[in-house]
Amino acid sequence: MPVKQATFVTSSSHHTQCPPPDYPEVAFIGRSNVGKSSLVNMLTNNKKLAKVSGKPGKTQLINHFLIDESWFLVDLPGYGWAKVAKTEKEKWGEMIHDYIMDRENLFNIFVLVDSRLEPQPIDVAFINWLGEKGIPFSLIFTKADKQSKNKTQSSIAHYKRVLKKYWSKLPMSFITSSTTQEGREEVLNYIDEIISTSNS
Ligand code: GTP
Ligand code: MG
Repeated sequence: MPVKQATFVTSSSHHTQCPPPDYPEVAFIGRSNVGKSSLVNMLTNNKKLAKVSGKPGKTQLINHFLIDESWFLVDLPGYGWAKVAKTEKEKWGEMIHDYIMDRENLFNIFVLVDSRLEPQPIDVAFINWLGEKGIPFSLIFTKADKQSKNKTQSSIAHYKRVLKKYWSKLPMSFITSSTTQEGREEVLNYIDEIISTSNS
């Protein structure tokens, strides 16, 4: 699916401030620094659309981008900041928790994980929480340019083995690099499929 026009709409600190739910929406989530904002820019071919930083914690709000006047792409802050978190609200942050639970036009969440890392407990906990709540999601393994294809493949195979301990059916997954644009077409075509079901 080509992207012709991408515009920043608004930043919200609460899901009730988000734009009216008039278009189907997909969101990027994951730990800070995993590459959510970079992926927004890569998909939209606009290096300046979402703010990127080498320092964790750059994105602090729920950022809505309108794509081709037909769907919203949402860039979220990183989760897992609270040191002692007991409830899900504390673990993911109230803003993220309430947005996911209440946003009626949210069709899919892309959970971004670094393709070089072992499954991180906070990511596995988040994935399991989405699964338990029946919230549709997919996985994106980011920063694939930072290691060999073989290493990425074995790291992903290991990741899937870990998730298989909890789930019999694994979610759809993608490998991306915001530097080489690897995975761009695959992710955009998948979003196209998702949003087409919203019109039928
Ligand atoms: P927060 O907003 O803090 O939650 O982080 P984020 O997940 O939005 O990460 P961001 O896109 O700001 O990227 C973090 C750092 O990783 C930046 O220095 C990016 O340039 C770098 N980065 C992101 N994606 C890639 C990638 O695919 N390849 C490489 N080599 N670097 C990447
Ligand atoms: Mg960001």
